[in-house]
Amino acid sequence: MKYAHIIGWGKYVPDRVLTNHDLERMIETTDEWITRRTGIHERHIAGERETTATLAFEAAARALAVADLHPSQVELIIVATSTPEYIFPSTACRVQDYLGAIKAGAFDLSAACSGFVYGLDMAAQAIATGSVRNAIVIGAETMTRVLDWEDRGTCVLFGDGAGAVVLKGSNIPGGVLASTLRSDGSGGDLLSLPAVYHNPVPTLGPEYFHNGHKRNTIAMDGRQVFRFATQVIADSVHETLRKANMTLEDVDLIVPHQANTRIIEAAAKRLKLPQEMFYTNVQWMGNTSAASIPIALCDAVKDGRLQPDDNVIFVGFGGGLTWAASLVKWNVTPPDVSLPRREWRRARYVYARGRSKMKRYGRRFGAWIGGSPTPDASLKDGDKKSRENDL
Ligand code: COA
Repeated sequence: MKYAHIIGWGKYVPDRVLTNHDLERMIETTDEWITRRTGIHERHIAGERETTATLAFEAAARALAVADLHPSQVELIIVATSTPEYIFPSTACRVQDYLGAIKAGAFDLSAACSGFVYGLDMAAQAIATGSVRNAIVIGAETMTRVLDWEDRGTCVLFGDGAGAVVLKGSNIPGGVLASTLRSDGSGGDLLSLPAVYHNPVPTLGPEYFHNGHKRNTIAMDGRQVFRFATQVIADSVHETLRKANMTLEDVDLIVPHQANTRIIEAAAKRLKLPQEMFYTNVQWMGNTSAASIPIALCDAVKDGRLQPDDNVIFVGFGGGLTWAASLVKWNVTPPDVSLPRREWRRARYVYARGRSKMKRYGRRFGAWIGGSPTPDASLKDGDKKSRENDL
């Protein structure tokens, strides 16, 4: 039995910041209302050329640098996201290509804001069974691209970003000790994001979904989600500790999904724990869905909130409904990687992009020589050009 240890972590958030005061100029809201009800002051917004995959890649590259691991050693890449640019190719496959992780399987995982904890458990299980030795788990989102900017009940809450961890198998006990994954599909209507190909509702017009919300944007019953979240955080933390034969007294830090400071305060009360046991950075990030826990983890490490041998719990909740918790022993000190070595690693990613392009041209050339149509020959010229540029 192998233990899956976290040996690297990295986050990437876009440069552009949208403050509550900026929002005051866009919709009927106030900094005071947003701060009082959510604790959020500002959030990051992806730039025009940034995508979920580019954010995910940056976070993964930084996590690999901390772990001092070569991309070719990675055997599994899981990207938890609700905002992929494509249903397929998966965001994980694009990250695999950008990294040049030539020996990795890659797939996306859909469990909304619980996605990172689900992914962590999947990767830890794959390591425990000996199926893979190393894995990267990424939470990455461009939530601001699926918001109805006229719906003040949701558009003030979310932000963009990505966070990643590298997991490595080891015989030393520790790492991911226990997890609890749960779902309740009966609450699916409380928090939803319809897929682009969902049937339009003729009576409302093609822009609208059946509940009156704009298509391809988030719809939410805030109060119900609030109630659900405060219940399941406590339940899943207790259940996970029970599986590991531990109690709350053994826990050093809880890194919850960063949706709202009031949810976190209510959960702390329910667990009868001091607020300081919960790490929060939602004030500066907003709700970045699947990315929020790994981003908060990186900030917690930077703030010195995690020491070797600490027990940390990650707990997520969100659309589905889904919720999940993982208990992790934080007991691997990362190697001290020199700056030139890090820079050298970055150069490898430029090489990976070049190699990917060459492979693509090689395929087209082979098809041309062989006289067979290229796989995308059926696309119209315009479509073909835009996808070639995009992918
Ligand atoms: N600015 C100003 N007023 C706003 C507003 C905004 N951005 N959004 C809503 N309001 C108004 C509403 O229109 C309503 O006005 P009314 O009383 O005149 O009708 C009033 O504020 C109360 O609305 P309500 O939705 O009941 O507020 P609330 O106290 O439930 O707070 C949330 C709203 C969204 C902050 C809260 O429900 C929440 O945090 N829910 C959990 C959401 C979440 O975290 N989702 C992601 C989970 S992964």
